[in-house]
Amino acid sequence: MAFLFVLPTWPADVWKTAMTKVAPDLDVRIWPDMGQVEDIDYAAAWLPPSGVLKGLPNLKVIYSLGAGVDAILKDPTLPEGIPIVRVNDDDLTKRMTEYVVLHVLMHHRQQQRIDANQARRIWDSFPTHAASALSVGIMGLGVMGQDSALRLRDLGFRVAGWSRSRKAIEGVECLAGVGEFDQFLAHTDVLVSLLPATAETDGIINRTNIQKLSRKGPFGAPIVINAGRGRQQVDADILTCLNNGELYAATLDVFAVEPLPADSALWAHPRVTITPHTAADSNPEVICAYVHAQIKRHQVGQPLVNLVDRARGY
Ligand code: NAP
Ligand code: GLV
Repeated sequence: MAFLFVLPTWPADVWKTAMTKVAPDLDVRIWPDMGQVEDIDYAAAWLPPSGVLKGLPNLKVIYSLGAGVDAILKDPTLPEGIPIVRVNDDDLTKRMTEYVVLHVLMHHRQQQRIDANQARRIWDSFPTHAASALSVGIMGLGVMGQDSALRLRDLGFRVAGWSRSRKAIEGVECLAGVGEFDQFLAHTDVLVSLLPATAETDGIINRTNIQKLSRKGPFGAPIVINAGRGRQQVDADILTCLNNGELYAATLDVFAVEPLPADSALWAHPRVTITPHTAADSNPEVICAYVHAQIKRHQVGQPLVNLVDRARGY
């Protein structure tokens, strides 16, 4: 039995070292040095080159090394019928929660204005407001969205969430489905996306939807934070809305093209904060321990958990 990493854009040797530390007896291989492909029962992949996974005749499970699985599902030759397991791990979730809380607070406490003032030695004690003055709306109330919602609620923000199926979270207004989307947007001063990349969520952060967001918040215009996937935001619409006052500010961790090209106007916009897809980094040792635990479950016939529904796309 062998385990294969297919990570053309990641430092695969770092992942092999981590897996070997977690599971010293496991035969760990790195694509393209696959050895006898018949030996490979399990593979972990991120942006696998077309045909690689299909070429493994005894493959039993495919692992994503992150919460999102778009990087695997985009393989047009992905073998059918092989279960795909994604990451649902407290370490990853807490990293995302830190990011969401950090950026909601950064906007709420107007830290960019304070930094700009300090750079010019200006003592400007402008009025501030309570957390309860701001409504945060989280698109995607899954593992990550729910944890962020709870922490923001505990800080005193008014929190709403939107998902496909309805949730029940104490102190969080839970809306669901296309029919309640406009109502969700109308309540939202700070829009956070923790959605997966699917055909339904592509381009969801567009000018039409930005125009539906609340303007009753303390800044007079809404704020967008996208840590879901870059395909969800229409960069040109975000810039238009920032420049015409329909949007107050944006924090963007993910982009349709990564790395974000140097000539993107987003880089230089004074009210855009850019982070390089690091909202919730996959820690190799933590994630390898998670994957190895799932391999052991599979080997003794226990059901796999955190399975991806290919038809839904997440
Ligand atoms: P998850 O548990 O699968 O949650 C996804 C949520 O999105 C669910 O609540 C789901 O609704 C909702 N959803 C999906 N499609 C929808 C639609 N069309 N309309 C309304 N709601 C929809 O995933 P997760 O673990 O929270 O991760 C969420 C995403 O975060 C990942 O897919 C990934 O793209 C992103 N992520 C980014 C980073 C980063 O570093 N930037 C790191 C990790 C993850 P239901 O609950 O009804 O199914
Ligand atoms: C990272 O983007 C992930 O999906 O975990």
